[in-house]
Amino acid sequence: MKKILVTGGAGYIGSHTLIELIKLGFEPVVYDNLSNSSPVAIERVEQIVDQKIAFIKGDVLDKTHLTQVFTEHEFFGVIHFAGLKAVGESVAKPLKYYQNNVSGTLNLLEVMTDFGVKNFIFSSSATVYGDPEMLPIVETARRSCTNPYGQSKLTVEYVLEDLAKSERVPSWNIISLRYFNPIGADASGTIGEDPSDIPNNLMPYISQVAVGKLEKLSVFGDDYDTPDGTGVRDYIHVVDLAKGHVKALEYIAKQTSAFGFEPINLGTGHGTSVLELVGAFVSTTGQNVPYVIAPRRAGDIATCYASADKAKTLLGWTAEFDIERMCVDTWRWQSQNPQGYHSN
Ligand code: NAD
Ligand code: WQD
Repeated sequence: MKKILVTGGAGYIGSHTLIELIKLGFEPVVYDNLSNSSPVAIERVEQIVDQKIAFIKGDVLDKTHLTQVFTEHEFFGVIHFAGLKAVGESVAKPLKYYQNNVSGTLNLLEVMTDFGVKNFIFSSSATVYGDPEMLPIVETARRSCTNPYGQSKLTVEYVLEDLAKSERVPSWNIISLRYFNPIGADASGTIGEDPSDIPNNLMPYISQVAVGKLEKLSVFGDDYDTPDGTGVRDYIHVVDLAKGHVKALEYIAKQTSAFGFEPINLGTGHGTSVLELVGAFVSTTGQNVPYVIAPRRAGDIATCYASADKAKTLLGWTAEFDIERMCVDTWRWQSQNPQGYHSN
């Protein structure tokens, strides 16, 4: 059985990925400092998969501890979710973001090098494309970022590319998965996205309005050059996203020689506007989501959706779940857990 170190495995995407890893016969070992997650998420995953999951509380900034973990376990590879992700906070606290996201990754890569573990899956983001010149966005598109969070992801991608290029004969298998907009939750309704503060992202905001925690949604701009004037994004079900990670590991496992660095989009290839998402949520859940039109949010772009061709060709992965399913699953999680992982 292949052991996989899953940094940030207690978080939103990580917890869903644990389930898919176990289903496909991998053995995850979670490494998380719980700075943005709860140990309850791991307990809930254990209930879903009906087995214990190895959990180590630790920080990727602590290289000594990471070294100890690698001494105690023989890993086939690492999925690196651990990171901070709040765009607004990154503008106010850039050092915190570069430290955590860039230095944390450097530590991990150094320890992996020391132990000869060279299979690496990185949580990148569509944010590395900035305001795209062409749609759908292909992996070879120009990259540029407008905020420290995005820069930290892009910087890590440059590091990973340089690392892969540094070898005449590649020994690293690095896949940078560029996620579009993950939403939804496991069908059990027992795990999901649990923002620690007022949500920055659209779907958790909608679901918290629906459950009565927030009064109304502000739609940030209705004067974009899009069919209904509101921002268009490529929403992807988190379970599909999780499956993409396992496909990436399987792709690595079947290689006979190392390939270096591959960036791969994980998106559906379809755009949905803010008002379309609100409409789908209301019609599938029967809940009310009052909203007002508000000014544009600084730094937002009009439209962003993926070309999902490379993931299909290389990994044999395609997203399966539609927007309606994303809404139903989000609502099941939110309505069953109005306070997230805190006791209801
Ligand atoms: P999340 O905050 O739910 O999960 C991240 C996890 O990492 C948390 O459990 C947190 O406690 C842990 N963590 C943070 N810093 C750490 C450190 N220094 N050491 C150990 N653990 C640490 O976020 P998520 O939505 O699950 O995102 C996972 C990854 O995917 C992040 O790297 C994020 O930047 C990236 N990503 C997320 C999205 C999105 O919209 N959710 C989109 C693109 C990329
Ligand atoms: C989606 C749409 C908003 C909230 C962000 C990060 C990106 C990635 C995913 C990590 C936009 C509109 C939102 C609200 C609204 N994360 N909106 N009212 O901005 O595409 O991407 O999350 O890597 O890096 O930047 O996602 O969910 O914030 O916004 O009208 O209260 O919803 O303007 O059009 P975004 P989002």
